[in-house]
Amino acid sequence: MNISDVLVRWYAKHKRHLPWRETSDPYLIWVSEVILQQTRVNQGIDYYYRFVERFPDVGSLARASLDEVLKSWQGLGYYTRARNLHKAAGKVWFEHGGKFPDNYDGLRQLPGVGPYTASAIASFCFDEPVAVVDGNVGRVLSRLLGIYTPINGSQGRKKLQEEAGRMINRADPATHNQAIIEFGALQCTPSHPECGTCPFKDICHAYLNDKVEWLPVKMPKKQKRHRFFHYLEIHRNGYLYMHQRNERDIWNALYQFPLIESDRELTTGELEKTPEWKQVFNNLHPRITAVSPIYRHTLTHQKIHARFIRIHLGGSNIHLDENYRAVSTQELQELAVPRLIDKYLEQENYGKNG
Ligand code: ADE
Repeated sequence: MNISDVLVRWYAKHKRHLPWRETSDPYLIWVSEVILQQTRVNQGIDYYYRFVERFPDVGSLARASLDEVLKSWQGLGYYTRARNLHKAAGKVWFEHGGKFPDNYDGLRQLPGVGPYTASAIASFCFDEPVAVVDGNVGRVLSRLLGIYTPINGSQGRKKLQEEAGRMINRADPATHNQAIIEFGALQCTPSHPECGTCPFKDICHAYLNDKVEWLPVKMPKKQKRHRFFHYLEIHRNGYLYMHQRNERDIWNALYQFPLIESDRELTTGELEKTPEWKQVFNNLHPRITAVSPIYRHTLTHQKIHARFIRIHLGGSNIHLDENYRAVSTQELQELAVPRLIDKYLEQENYGKNG
């Protein structure tokens, strides 16, 4: 038996029954793979059901507004993925008459569809023998074959793609790909892999050479950029002021409280002296009624340190920035907000009855 045969046999015995394994509809496979890039399988199942209930096919996703799609992505974070889903659905629906590209090269033309997702869809739905390489597969191959090139660098990725391509079972690429992903998720796990019961015990480079803990090799991540957000949670007459982000920056199109950003943390005294504060409040008399602890939120290349300043404004006939939208706490529930703000709202009980 070759490696693929062993994987496939292992898979038949150990595989989990997951909803996206019961279909070969490329739309459903695509949605599941994008969700799984974002979250673990157990949590992914709930999001998957929720998402496909709301958007059961590519047409419903294409015709929905971006706001709706972002809102239903809430909790998963990394909204670029949701934006790309929406954009790609539009392309499939309006340019391809609703029919998904049925091969790797065609799929790669869709926004946000990289080598991994295109291989997954092409193999699972169309039996194209293209190998998936994600973190699971990278770990399995680097241990099994003794690959010491960092798996998160371009050289390592290329090497893994070659090895995975050599290994794939051309007669049944779909099962092979599912099997190797599942093997990485359940047997050859990042820490405490189950080497004792592993079917590759006799040939695994890492196991035979006592290198399991050293593989895969990863390059250190780039230093993150630190940003300091001071959110102004302005209350007036039962309304809150929200503002839709529209810069070329993180969280485009999501809603947030009016923001003062700086390159270090500011005290409320310092905040009140900033030109931004003076511009927001002009001649009004804001009353600070609470200051939150710091909320930290990590993104791919950035680390956000946020504080929420609760402010009450009295008076009538006042004019804040025309781009701010006054919303009730009820309406607030309908807006798509960054995960960071969602966490704060949850903490402060801006729930359904808030
Ligand atoms: N992770 C990524 N893709 C997956 C899949 N198809 N099944 C289980 N876990 C996965």
